Amino acid sequence: MVFKSSIWVASGALLARACSALGCSPTTIDKPDILGATILDLQASEVLDNTAFSTNPGVNNGGEFTVSFCNVTVVHTHPGWNDKITTHVWLPLDWNGRFHGLGGGGYATGHDSLFLPYAVTRGFAAASTDGGLDKGDAFIPNNLGWALSSRNNVNWYLLENYAYKATIEMAEIGKQITTSYYKKAPAYSYFSGCSGGGRQGLAMAQRFPDAFDGILSVAPAIDIETFVPAGYWARQVMNQHQIPISTCEAEGFVNEAVKACDKLDGVEDGIISLPSACKATANDFVGQKYSCNGTLHTLTASGAKVIQAVWSGSGKNGYPGLNKDADITFYVPKACHSKASTCQFFDALRYSKANYGGMLATNNPDLSAFKAKGGKMVSWIGLADEAIPPSGILSYYQQVLSKDANAHDFYRLFEAPGVGHCSGGLGPIPNKALDQLIDWVEMGVVPDTLHAVNGSDNTSRDLCPYPLHQVYVGGDHKKPESFTCAEVDSSFGSESLLTQELQVHGQSEL
Ligand SMILES: *[C@@H]1O[C@H](CO)[C@@H](O)[C@H](O)[C@H]1NC(C)=O
Ligand SMILES: *[C@@H]1O[C@H](CO)[C@@H](O)[C@H](O)[C@H]1NC(C)=O
Ligand SMILES: *[C@@H]1O[C@H](CO)[C@@H](O)[C@H](O)[C@H]1NC(C)=O
Ligand SMILES: *[C@@H]1O[C@H](CO)[C@@H](O)[C@H](O)[C@H]1NC(C)=O
Repeated sequence: MVFKSSIWVASGALLARACSALGCSPTTIDKPDILGATILDLQASEVLDNTAFSTNPGVNNGGEFTVSFCNVTVVHTHPGWNDKITTHVWLPLDWNGRFHGLGGGGYATGHDSLFLPYAVTRGFAAASTDGGLDKGDAFIPNNLGWALSSRNNVNWYLLENYAYKATIEMAEIGKQITTSYYKKAPAYSYFSGCSGGGRQGLAMAQRFPDAFDGILSVAPAIDIETFVPAGYWARQVMNQHQIPISTCEAEGFVNEAVKACDKLDGVEDGIISLPSACKATANDFVGQKYSCNGTLHTLTASGAKVIQAVWSGSGKNGYPGLNKDADITFYVPKACHSKASTCQFFDALRYSKANYGGMLATNNPDLSAFKAKGGKMVSWIGLADEAIPPSGILSYYQQVLSKDANAHDFYRLFEAPGVGHCSGGLGPIPNKALDQLIDWVEMGVVPDTLHAVNGSDNTSRDLCPYPLHQVYVGGDHKKPESFTCAEVDSSFGSESLLTQELQVHGQSEL
């Protein structure tokens, strides 16, 4: 049996190699036909045994991969928009029959050769687009220079490419190229991305429900037009009251919060698994000692004001804050600047929401068309995310549920306690999310939990589908069976949790 199937795989591979040798050139691959676009250029040539480092946060942890593929590069423009978009499509010589669109992150729509090799190693025909945006040299592009045509004038065309247009066109170009090369349409199409890439995934489900059969949307930058300006709230408070706070003191507050709330889930591991049960405020920690450069200091009341601003966010006009075990040093600047006015802060926030929300918020809870097409979507969010407040996607999911009480049948959201933005942190990180999504799409294997591991200390965990939360039931906390998924009423704090825990205990013993 094993012998037979390996023969089959080997001959399949030979066949693919033979075909590709004939087909990988600009003359044999059909130019894609995209409504409203003009194809400026198409390059195609075979690349053999190309070794490169590749990663894809939210999907794999990275490594070196050697791949052989047909390298197709398509350049297109939207006449009148003065843009030039490059889409890379990599077609493995050993194809698994599927198409995989790769999202970007930060202010980029794709990471091209950084993400492509891993997907191709897995056998996917894969694509990535630069969206026509100049992303600069940074790995996580925070260069927004492309967004202005000139001083104070937004380049709405490029913003629309960034928001969703380049992504749907990458899907169309990628699928057409794949079909032309293999002489066969992909059996299934997938999208994955984290952060800005997670937002691209949501945009596809909401706006182009038939583009992908499966979407993995990790830590999506939902409501980006709100949480980015709202993230300046702590700086605002600091500048307005002229409260300088050191990184050490900021970390001192975080350490106290972890001490206070870590055990609420029943296990002491440096992770706050149930942020909503953590009722402590920064003010509670004033007077506690923290150490900085070997000397002891005391957490101050003024410092508490700044830290509470990070944790609470800017209130109902703005955005909820970060969870209390997140690394907040990014949100707390090193020094005060000139006094800032609160009106300007809220004016800027209102302006951003009003002007960019329609294009960028990506928060339409109506996924009925995606559901009707049979699409499946998986999201996960690190609860210690230091860049995007997890509450954004959690409240979006609640809205999806209130529109469709059975949304669980096609869209699941998982909390990853202790995990940072896309990766990092103390908590176990999902390591098979894409495979679980594929099994759901193709075989109907519902992801009841999402597998997660921490490679460095061998912890493995089955993450819970929201609104269920992870609850410790006893035993070795490195083992998944020591936890269960349960509904937790956080409004009563630790007492109700204890009750819950006992109930869960009781159930598991039955
Ligand atoms: C793929 O082709 C493009 C366009 O010719 C080229 O710029 C790129 O370097 C090629 N990629 C690899 C990995 O060879
Ligand atoms: C701690 O030491 C570092 C490096 O010497 C210095 O940059 C920092 O300002 C010090 N922090 C405090 C709070 O003194
Ligand atoms: C895994 O666990 C170790 C030991 O507790 C910790 O230092 C590390 O940050 C954790 N996370 C990852 C991603 O390795
Ligand atoms: C993790 O598991 C591997 C293989 O079982 C073992 O070699 C290693 O020592 C373990 N590491 C820790 C930190 O427990």
